[in-house]
Amino acid sequence: MSGAGGQAAGGAAGEAVRRRTFAVISHPDAGKSTLTEALALHARAITSAGAVHGKAGRRGVSSDWMEMEKARGISVTSAVLQFAYRDHVLNLLDTPGHADFSEDTYRVLAAVDCAVMLIDAAKGLEEQTRKLFDVCRHRGVPVITFVNKWDRPGREALELLDEIESEFALKPTPVTWPVGEAGHLRGLVDVREPERMLRYSRAPGGARAAAEEAVAAGRAAAEESADWERAVEELELLRADGAEHDRSAFLAGKSTPVFFGAAVSNIGVRLLLDALVDLAPAPGARELAGGGHRPVGAPFSGLVFKVQANMDRSHRDRIAFVRVCSGVFERGMTVIHAASGRPFATKYAHSVFGQDRSSVDLAYPGDVVGLVNAAALRVGDTLYSGKPAVFPPMPTFAPEHFAVARPADIGRSKQFRRGIAQLDEEGVVQVLVSDRRGEQAPVLAAVGPMQFEVVTHRMEHEFSSPVRLEPLPYHLARATDASGADKLDRTRLVKGEPFTRLRDRAHLALFPSRWQADSFAREFPGTRLETLIAAH
Ligand code: G4P
Repeated sequence: MSGAGGQAAGGAAGEAVRRRTFAVISHPDAGKSTLTEALALHARAITSAGAVHGKAGRRGVSSDWMEMEKARGISVTSAVLQFAYRDHVLNLLDTPGHADFSEDTYRVLAAVDCAVMLIDAAKGLEEQTRKLFDVCRHRGVPVITFVNKWDRPGREALELLDEIESEFALKPTPVTWPVGEAGHLRGLVDVREPERMLRYSRAPGGARAAAEEAVAAGRAAAEESADWERAVEELELLRADGAEHDRSAFLAGKSTPVFFGAAVSNIGVRLLLDALVDLAPAPGARELAGGGHRPVGAPFSGLVFKVQANMDRSHRDRIAFVRVCSGVFERGMTVIHAASGRPFATKYAHSVFGQDRSSVDLAYPGDVVGLVNAAALRVGDTLYSGKPAVFPPMPTFAPEHFAVARPADIGRSKQFRRGIAQLDEEGVVQVLVSDRRGEQAPVLAAVGPMQFEVVTHRMEHEFSSPVRLEPLPYHLARATDASGADKLDRTRLVKGEPFTRLRDRAHLALFPSRWQADSFAREFPGTRLETLIAAH
């Protein structure tokens, strides 16, 4: 490896303190894209040679296969936006917005230190918000809440807080509070400075940051009368309830600082950015598979949390997204790929935001590096230099949908095999094989049926091998072992079929229903039959 890893270790710890790596979790339409743009507008986007990604920039974030995503208005790929703010570097990792992509989302959330939960003021907690919050809780990711669209009629602020507390068992601790109900926003109070109100003059279309004016309490009371009075009363209520920000409760996932605003007009966005710098945690020591932790100041280590092929058809490549966990990443350094024990040269390292790329020369803990043409890398892999490190494996979720895949045109079976192998490696679907069916007819296993649509689309457009998918009547997968698989293969008493998962050679037993799985367990007591992690 390059000699700089050791000497720059102090630098790594120093740089880590300045980093905030986070994701925005929300239900589609809550305003994630709008908020992302608003954040980048306030800050200085530094990915892609200093360009600020406004609406026009976002339009560039597309490639052919993402047409489907555009048509459906969902985001199916993960990109990273890096920007500078108050002498800090913020890394915003994009999470796929569709409910079916919880596996993918889980991986992204494995690479962040904090999440911003975005809630639509009129809708409150929605299905996808709930699922994503569950993932954050499972991973121990602290959550900051932003109640968006306060410029439109919506629910009562206190009612929204109650909902968060009762549904998530998470104490909401407002850091900002709205003056005026949803749809009648007069300003915001920063609860740390309650003697003034922040008033915003609208920035039409969110084209620029809304101008913020501090109005003293006396003047706010005179000008906003009933709205100000009500805000003051509500703040007193909250204080009496002990709803004050508590750093250790927040980091332990027991409380969430809450912000209000309107991303479309950039209202409240600066306060959220400040919170990311002031409240969100910097990258810290990361847990290792064998126990113990890797401190940020240790030599380089990184976690592959996403592998994406053909993000850009003109490049026809494959990118592994690596979150730097410790040390300094230097382009060109040779690191060790923990899974194979082989050296891996990082000649082609990029920071990536959609199609825009720029070479990255140095990256620090919390940063994300895109390694191009990283054919050997899989999701969950560890790269390191110096003392060996292996991070815990990424869990795979229990698939609930299964289909046999066949090439629509058998003349293209080579492309078919290559495509399926690629999608498996990326984790788009889990690929299952069995002696009974042979490798020519792999079974695709998905957490949500939308994953099949991605397979069909990409097989046709990227791998030039259209596929036919024949659904199988199974809905439940259990982890078993070779002997369990053998018993299931031979029994005639229950409907079920054993498979081997290509990715990790794990034995899976598929059943049409829980009832069938239970009767198999009763028939063969002592057989290993374990529940997999449920995504829903
Ligand atoms: P998403 O990425 O979470 O799916 O949401 P996105 O930002 O695309 O926003 C969804 C819709 O909500 C957009 O309206 C957007 O303008 C609107 N929106 C986002 N933030 C706010 C806000 O603070 N206040 C109000 N009033 N609206 C907000 P659209 O009609 O779907 O698109 P557009 O034509 O306005 O862009």
